Amino acid sequence: MEETKKKNGFASGIGFIFAAAGSAVGLGNLWAFPYKTSQGGGAVFVLLYILCVLFIGVVTMLCEIYIGKRAQANPISAYKKAHKNLGFIGLVSIIIPFIITVYYSVLGGYTVKYTVNSFAGNAGILASFSNSKWQVILFTTIFIALALLIVMGGVKAGIEKASKILMPALFIIMVGVVIFSLCLGEGVSDGLKYYLKPDFKAVVHDDNWGKTILAAMGQAFFSLSLGMGAMLTYGSYTDNKVNLVKSTAMICIFDTLIALLSGLAIFPAVFHYTATEGVSQAELGMQGPGLLFATLPRIFENMGIAGKIVSFFFFAMVVIAAVTSVISLMEVVTQFVIQKFKLNRKIAIGIVSAIAFALSIPVGISLGSAFNNGTTLFIFGVDLLTLLDTITNTVLMPVTAFFACVTVGYIIGGKNAANEI
Ligand code: TRP
Repeated sequence: MEETKKKNGFASGIGFIFAAAGSAVGLGNLWAFPYKTSQGGGAVFVLLYILCVLFIGVVTMLCEIYIGKRAQANPISAYKKAHKNLGFIGLVSIIIPFIITVYYSVLGGYTVKYTVNSFAGNAGILASFSNSKWQVILFTTIFIALALLIVMGGVKAGIEKASKILMPALFIIMVGVVIFSLCLGEGVSDGLKYYLKPDFKAVVHDDNWGKTILAAMGQAFFSLSLGMGAMLTYGSYTDNKVNLVKSTAMICIFDTLIALLSGLAIFPAVFHYTATEGVSQAELGMQGPGLLFATLPRIFENMGIAGKIVSFFFFAMVVIAAVTSVISLMEVVTQFVIQKFKLNRKIAIGIVSAIAFALSIPVGISLGSAFNNGTTLFIFGVDLLTLLDTITNTVLMPVTAFFACVTVGYIIGGKNAANEI
């Protein structure tokens, strides 16, 4: 007990599960999963994604939590403890969360805007909002400030408690929106077919298998918060009472469920509106990062006055899901800054969020340009958000995750680890 308190650990096993689920469930599930599904051809991507979670995600998560719990320390020390030459993996595990924090905060800003704008109506505002630089910067600031306040206020009383209430609430609202979407009528069955019935020929013809598999794998890592210090750091806050296998299973199931529900809310709606209102799929954001922001507001608009209230709660939940995720990203970097530079927690977070904020400005401008068919601040032909997302998801995270597994399997030793787990 003393030990747990000193390390600012979680109060209970279930508290750990909720906090880790809070880290996992975020924009990855609600924003990225549907849009990457729409880029990966629908059901084929969903199938690949589930396979990646089952065969790679679960094991990797178990390894990362175990490495953290075993070392009771930050990623660099934890990897060094396993082998003296592995410190660089720990370092990479600290740099990636920082990069993600930057673009995550821009999107977090979008969700704040959509929440406060719910009563005025969000349908069709994507182009104008994303293009108004000052608004984007303002809402990004609000989002970062929210995260900053919570991290400052202490993780145990803040995140652990909040996650316990908010995660179940998110789930209930999600189910409600899904039911509404499934009841839209015309087009719904086409949407379901697209989302759930794999059309392997489409992928083969486009010669896209490699790309699609890589995207599904990257998405699985991102959504489960793997391949960087997050699960490792949270794991280091647990004690022996926590059942690692059971916890891992529950986190993975909950995370996947929310992602699947998100698609179930969006795709029937896309096909419904294209069939009945003559809008194009592109206008609804298909095959691009605007999908969530362009499609869901239409559903809410169709619900009448109730829709405004549902919209408010829904986007507020998205903000919360995003905040509980970004906190885990910031926590990794902050913990490192505190230990490395011997700073106090408040100053460390202040520095981390100030730098993240400065870097988020070009990312926000670049994304706005992408939503308006522009190419301002593009690199390699894509906006900065897509670029950073691709680098972290499909390159850095799988590599780090691979090392996490090798560390447990070969360096610590599979047998030793299995016994301890
Ligand atoms: N998993 C979160 C999401 O789906 C994002 C996230 C939070 C994350 N912490 C992480 C991703 C650590 C990778 C590593 O939105």
